[in-house]
Amino acid sequence: MSQTTHAYNSSVIQPKEDMALEKSSDNSDSALANPVICTRSLEVTYKNNLKALKSTSLEIAQGSFVVLLGTSGAGKSTLLRALNGLVQPTAGSVKATGLGDLANPSTLQRHRRQTGMIFQQHHLIGRLSVLNNVLLGRMGHHSGWRMFCPWTRSEKEQALAVIDRVGLLERALARADQLSGGQQQRVGMARALIQQPRLLLADEPIASLDPNTSLRLLQSLHDICKSDGLTTVVSLHQVDFARQFADRIIGLKQGAVVFDGAPQELSAHQVTDLYRHHTSVEARPVSAAASATVFQQSSLLEA
Ligand SMILES: Nc1ncnc2c1ncn2[C@@H]1O[C@H](COP(=O)(O)OP(=O)(O)OP(=O)(O)O)[C@@H](O)[C@H]1O
Ligand SMILES: [Mg+2]
Repeated sequence: MSQTTHAYNSSVIQPKEDMALEKSSDNSDSALANPVICTRSLEVTYKNNLKALKSTSLEIAQGSFVVLLGTSGAGKSTLLRALNGLVQPTAGSVKATGLGDLANPSTLQRHRRQTGMIFQQHHLIGRLSVLNNVLLGRMGHHSGWRMFCPWTRSEKEQALAVIDRVGLLERALARADQLSGGQQQRVGMARALIQQPRLLLADEPIASLDPNTSLRLLQSLHDICKSDGLTTVVSLHQVDFARQFADRIIGLKQGAVVFDGAPQELSAHQVTDLYRHHTSVEARPVSAAASATVFQQSSLLEA
């Protein structure tokens, strides 16, 4: 990728003092001065020695709608998962404003309670109703014996309100497995929203939907997040949708941020570069020994 003024440069995004990260988010001068979450020289290397995320320093501004772009394997899910402590940094840190470093288990627990997650595969319980699936999003707010009590009237009203917001009120009592893929993803949205999160992470929420359904779903997600001032990070494969909805696009390539800027700053050339197929030695995670094992196994299959 050619160097442009918009290409990521860690010197442009200066780490703030840790003290600033710990302070409360309520009295900020501007959204950028008040990130919801920051990564500092974050790296993730999986057990197979694959460095899925190279030193990454990012600040996600309060209320922003950020889209992660990049080819398959670029590290989008790894970054999203690191923002929710689902993968541990092997170097660097992830800090949530007002809470601290996610390496601290109690900080992580509090952060997760305030972070909604939307997955590509919905992760709904098919035999449960839409209402009950959405109510499961409240689980993080309960602890111990309280989890065994029935949902309160107020919780049910809250669930119906979010189901209404995602446009599914008339299907509230339907079984989740009787809904279309797009409707199921709306249930996933509602389940994340009932948490009343301050951060929403969505990993390819439209990957299995047709283009029209994808557009409608993203539009709803964007509208709700904007009207609630909810900070959102979404990974997508559709550059057009990223341009249409993102305040900021972060382009990842082989685990490194290679673009970080506003949609209008992302040139066609940069998009081509972002999606150019890469076959460098570094891109190959598998050791010679592992290759030999795979070769052996495939020979066995053919025998
Ligand atoms: N649990 C894991 N163990 C080992 N390697 C992993 C693991 N999860 C991901 N990887 C590898 O890390 C790299 C980044 O994967 P990641 O899932 O973050 O990419 P992605 O950008 O989300 O891709 P996609 O668009 O296909 O979802 C890939 O090479 C992947 O094979
Ligand atoms: Mg992914």
